[in-house]
Parts: sequence; C-alpha cells; structure tokens
Amino acid sequence: MIYNNILSENKEGICYITINRPKQLNALNGATINELNQAISVAEKDTDVRCIILTGADAKAFVAGADIKEFAAFDKNAGENLARKGQELLFDLLENASTPSIAAINGFALGGGLELAMACHIRIASDNAKMGLPEVSLGVIPGYGGTQRLASLVGKGKAMEMITTAGMLSSTQAMEWGLVNHVCSQEELIPLAEKLALKIKRNSPMAIAKAIKSVNAGFTDGVNGFEVEISEFGSCFETLEFIEGTTAFMEKRKAKF
Ligand code: CAA
Repeated sequence: MIYNNILSENKEGICYITINRPKQLNALNGATINELNQAISVAEKDTDVRCIILTGADAKAFVAGADIKEFAAFDKNAGENLARKGQELLFDLLENASTPSIAAINGFALGGGLELAMACHIRIASDNAKMGLPEVSLGVIPGYGGTQRLASLVGKGKAMEMITTAGMLSSTQAMEWGLVNHVCSQEELIPLAEKLALKIKRNSPMAIAKAIKSVNAGFTDGVNGFEVEISEFGSCFETLEFIEGTTAFMEKRKAKF
C-alpha cells in the first residue's frame, strides 16, 4: 500500500504506523485520516500483527490536532460531518479494534492528536511531550471524541479543567492524572512501546480481543459490561487458544499462540 501522509511497516508481529506530515506537525487532514483508516484496517485483518504502535514523525509532534487550515471555512453541516466521519473512520475504529494499540506520544499531542492517543488502548509519552485539548481557544470544541474519552480517562473534573482552560499538560502531569501510563526519554520511547508489545505478543490474541471488547462495553451507553464479560468469558472455552493456554499451564510449558 502506498501512503503519502503516513508510514506503515510490519516487523516481528508489530505494525508501526507513523503519522508523517512533520512540516504541519503531523496535523490530521482528511487524507491522513483515510490513510490511517486503511493502515489500521489492514493491520486488523493480518493475523501476524499482534500490536499496533502509533507515533509521529520527528521529535516535535505526535499530532498537533485536526488540520485547522482544512476546516477553517467549514459551515455547520461540514463541521458535523467532519466530526462524524473522523470518529467513524479512525477514532472508533482504533478503540474497538481487536488488535491492541499503543500511542507512543513523542511531542505535541493536541486536539485531534490527543484524541487519537486516547482512542489507543495504551498511552506512553516521552518527557518532551505536551498534551491538551485547546479547541475552545479556536472557538470550537473537541470533535473527535475528546469530551467523552478524556472524562473517562482522567475523570470529569480534570477533563473540564483541561478543556475549558485549553491548557497543556507535561508528560509528568499527564502520568499523575492517569492520561498516560509511562513516561521515558525520547530515545527510550519506541523501545518501551516494543517492550509492552512483546508482553502483549506472548498472550492469546483471541482472549485479548475479547478483553478489549468487554472493557469497552463498560464504557458504552446502554450496554451491560458485566453481561458482555460473562458471554465473552464463556465463548473463550470453545477456542483452540483456550485449550492451548490451559494445556500449556498444566504441562508446565509456555503457551504458543
Ligand atoms: N492544523 C494545521 N496546521 C498546523 C496545526 C494544525 N492543527 N498545528 C500546527 N500546524 C502547522 C502550522 O500552521 C505551521 O505551518 P506553516 O509553517 O505552514 O505555517 C507548522 O505546523 C508549524 O507550526 P507552528 O509554526 O505553529 O509551530 P510552533 O512551534 O510555533 O507551535 C504549536 C507549535 C503550539 C503546536 C502550534 O502549532 C499550535 O498551537 N498548533 C495548533 C494546535 C491546536 O489548536 N490543535 C487543535 C486543532 S482543532 C482540533 O483538533 C479539532 C478536533 O478535535 C476535531
């Protein structure tokens, strides 16, 4: 697949996706969102891919937001369409993918950039990263799921402060607030993501997919997460990966998934 705005490469079961518009601080225009949709969909279908690592090209930015230049002249309908299409094509796709994803936040993650990181299953950041939802400073609100996912990650009170002040958090503050799981130096960022991916790769992809589905169910309106967990738990028992996992335990060997 040839991409113009991203790089996508598979190595040893990991799909590395890099948003690659460094001159525009990797801002998400429509073309980039479409390419990310393609790359994630391809990774989802590839059973060799066990984890996705998402990062930004160059040290300055992960993603500095939705492309402001692209939507500056939009009207109400075009604005609503931008948010709806973006959420469907990228943010919801990533969050509900059965392949776990890690956002390796290497610089500014602002607006749509932080929203992209928040749609990933795991977030880690380098010590130079800055994170925020500055949309209200532009006279708009977060439109790629930020009002919802930030509140569920850091709590309503902190989300309200971040959104209404349009302020940025350092990596350390973001870790204290529960927005990222780990902070490290810039050089250690991808190796740390790979270390997490390696741990993920040892486990059953079937069980991981069902666990992601169950966790997400608890954050979906009108869905009883406990019921989804019960049903997904039960369905594990009819899979070869369950047989392999439990047999390996009893034979005192490592399971091969
Ligand atoms: N959209 C389009 N272009 C962007 C951009 C964005 N979100 N962020 C940065 N760029 C471009 C700049 O316009 C500039 O391009 P030109 O050289 O062609 O003018 C280039 O990237 C470098 O940026 P700066 O010169 O501004 O770099 P800086 O170091 O002075 O500042 C920054 C860095 C603080 C991140 C600043 O670029 C900035 O504030 N960017 C915008 C951040 C933002 O508001 N994001 C939210 C977007 S709205 C959104 O995301 C809505 C949604 O939820 C759907």
